[in-house]
Amino acid sequence: MAQAQQENDAGKQPSQREQAIAQLKADGVWKAPLDRRKFITTAAAGWVIFAAAFGGLSAILAAFMAPRLDFTKAQKFRAGVPDEYSNDSVSEQFKNTEKVWIVRTTEKILAISTVCTHLGCTPNWSENEMKFKCPCHGSGFYGPRPGVEPGVNFEGPAPTPLPRFKITLADDGQLTVDKSQMFFKEKGEWSNPESFVAV
Ligand code: FES
Repeated sequence: MAQAQQENDAGKQPSQREQAIAQLKADGVWKAPLDRRKFITTAAAGWVIFAAAFGGLSAILAAFMAPRLDFTKAQKFRAGVPDEYSNDSVSEQFKNTEKVWIVRTTEKILAISTVCTHLGCTPNWSENEMKFKCPCHGSGFYGPRPGVEPGVNFEGPAPTPLPRFKITLADDGQLTVDKSQMFFKEKGEWSNPESFVAV
């Protein structure tokens, strides 16, 4: 009986599955399943790569989301004493360094932003015409003339007046401009006593 069984097994043809595996092995395609140690090593390496990639992505995202404020640049500066400025005058001494015009009317001293409210160009001060004229698209803003508020837009595409910065008189009599605080006419903020120094 046992001998008959052995003869049967010896003569048994391989199944289709066994033939397919044999063919794959012969073609070098078939890979034996990972043993336990190889599996753990491969999984650990994959996890390390994933963690590194995720950490990198997180760092990039954090840098992208962080506010782009330069806290190292001083927002305040001294602008001298009021007597340095004559009535109805525009001082450009802080235009390049601080992007601020110091404007004096017969009633107050102002710190006006030099950034055009249309698309951000820098207007030029024209003493002849007593106006700030933007070279990019022609917007005009009033200078210190009687009956108007300096910085108000009156020609060209600029939609709003030039904003003003906080300006105060320090204990030592010096004007101090604080660019961290702005005042906008369209928000009704030009009556705020910190937006000008009365003279
Ligand atoms: S940027 Fe000043 S008019 Fe356009």
